[in-house]
Amino acid sequence: MTTAADKSSEQLSRWKTSLNLALTSEGLKALGLPAEALETFPTEFREGMSSRADILGDSDENAPERWEFGGTSGPASQDEIHLLLMLYGTTEAEVSSLADAQRSRLAEGGLRELAFQRTARIRDDKGGVVEHFGFRDGISQPRIEGFREAKHEAPDGVGAIKMGEFLLGYENEYAEVPDPPVAPAALDVEGVLAAQEHRPDWKELGRNGSYLVVRKLQQDVDGFHHFLEAHKSLAVGETDEHKKQWLAAKLMGRWPNGAPLRPGEDVPPHRSSGRGNGHDNNFGFNEKDQDGYGCPVASHVRRANPRDALPPNAQMSLQATRRHRILRRGITYSDESGKGMFFIAVNANIARQFEFLQQTWLNNGKFGGRYDERDPLMTHGAGRLTLPRQPLRRCVEGIERFVTMKGGGYFFLPSIRALDFLARLPY
Ligand code: HEM
Repeated sequence: MTTAADKSSEQLSRWKTSLNLALTSEGLKALGLPAEALETFPTEFREGMSSRADILGDSDENAPERWEFGGTSGPASQDEIHLLLMLYGTTEAEVSSLADAQRSRLAEGGLRELAFQRTARIRDDKGGVVEHFGFRDGISQPRIEGFREAKHEAPDGVGAIKMGEFLLGYENEYAEVPDPPVAPAALDVEGVLAAQEHRPDWKELGRNGSYLVVRKLQQDVDGFHHFLEAHKSLAVGETDEHKKQWLAAKLMGRWPNGAPLRPGEDVPPHRSSGRGNGHDNNFGFNEKDQDGYGCPVASHVRRANPRDALPPNAQMSLQATRRHRILRRGITYSDESGKGMFFIAVNANIARQFEFLQQTWLNNGKFGGRYDERDPLMTHGAGRLTLPRQPLRRCVEGIERFVTMKGGGYFFLPSIRALDFLARLPY
C-alpha cells in the first residue's frame, strides 16, 4: 500500500508506482466484519451503486443489467465484487509489472480477478490533461481546509472546504463531526483503532477513511462531433471549426482549453500553460453571469458546481454548494470496449455529495429554473439546451446520449489503521 504517512511530498512525487485498495460492503463482510459493524456504514454504501439506479438515473441503456461490472447479473456483478485495486505507474510497463505481481498475490490469497480496466491520461500539445471530448480536465477541485499549505492553493471563488467532507471523523460543512463507522472493541485485539469517545465498546473503523464512487462512463466521441457538425448553424464563430468549438464549450460550460466562459466572449482566451493557473477557477456566476449568457445555466460544469448562482443569494448559494463537493480522480481509458472516463470521486457522504450531484443537479430537468433540460453531456436523453442570447435566445435541440454508463460501484477507502485491523480479523 502506498501511504503518505511518513513521506514528504517531494519523496512522494518521485515514486514511480503506487497501490491503493478499496472495499465494497460485500468485501468487508467476506473479511469477517460482523453485521453489527457493517450496519454502522451508511445505507447507500451497503446497498451498492446498482441498487441505487433509480436515484442515479441509470436506466435504459445505462441500466445495471447491462453493466460490464458491478451490475445486477454476470460473473462481475455487484455482490461478487469485494475489492478494488488501484495500480498507478508512470509508464505502461510499470503498471503491467505491478499488475502481474498483484495478480499472483491475489491468486495465492484465494481471490479471483473479475474485471480489469486499463486507464491512461491523455494530454494536449501543451501538456495539459484532457478528456476524450477534447476538454482540459481536472481544473476545479475543492480546496481542503488544513490539507495543504495556503501558499500552494489557488483561489477558486469558493474557499476551503472542511476536511470532514472528504475524510471520515472530521468536522464537515454542517459544523458537525458525524460518527464514523465502528467495529466492536473486542475484535481489535492489537488495539490498532482509535476508541470511540462516548461508546467505549466500539472502535472507530471509519476514521481517516473515505468513500470512492467509481463509474466507467463510455463517451461517444464520434457522436459528439457529428452533433456539433449538425448543429453548428446555431453557433457563433468565423469558421466552422470556431462554431463547433463554441457549441461544444456551451454544452460543457468551459472552453476546451479550460478557460471559463464569460458573457460577451465568443472566442476562447489564449492560454499558454498546460496547468490550471488558478485564474481559471477563480470565478462565480452571480454577479456577471446570473442568466448564463457566458456559461449556460444547464451546462455540465455549471450544474456540477453552481458556485454562487443558486437562489436566494450568492452567500447562501456558496454555503449550499460547499456541502455537495466531490474530489474527482477520474482517468480516461481507451480500449477495445470503447473510449471514456473512468470516473472516480472521493467523498465522505455518498448520498449527500455524489448522489445529490447526479440526481439533483445533473439529471434534474428543472435545475436552475429550466424546464425539461438536463446535463447535455452526461444525461441520457437530455433533450435540449437553452442558450440565452440577444436579441433572441437559441435552443439546441435533439440532444440524445453522448455518455453511457458501463459499470461501477461504491467502495470504502480504509485508513491504514483500518486496513491493519481488517487484515487481522478472524474469518
Ligand atoms: C464522461 C464523463 C465526464 C466528463 C467527460 C466530464 C468532463 C468534465 C470537464 C471537462 C470538466 C471541466 C474541467 C474542470 O473543472 O476540472 C468537468 C468538471 C466537473 N465535473 Fe465532469 N465530466 C464527466 C462526468 C462527471 C460526473 C458523472 C460528475 C458528477 C456526478 C461530474 C462532476 C464534475 C464536477 C463537480 C466538475 C467541477 C465543476 C466545478 O467545480 O466548476 N462530472 N467535467
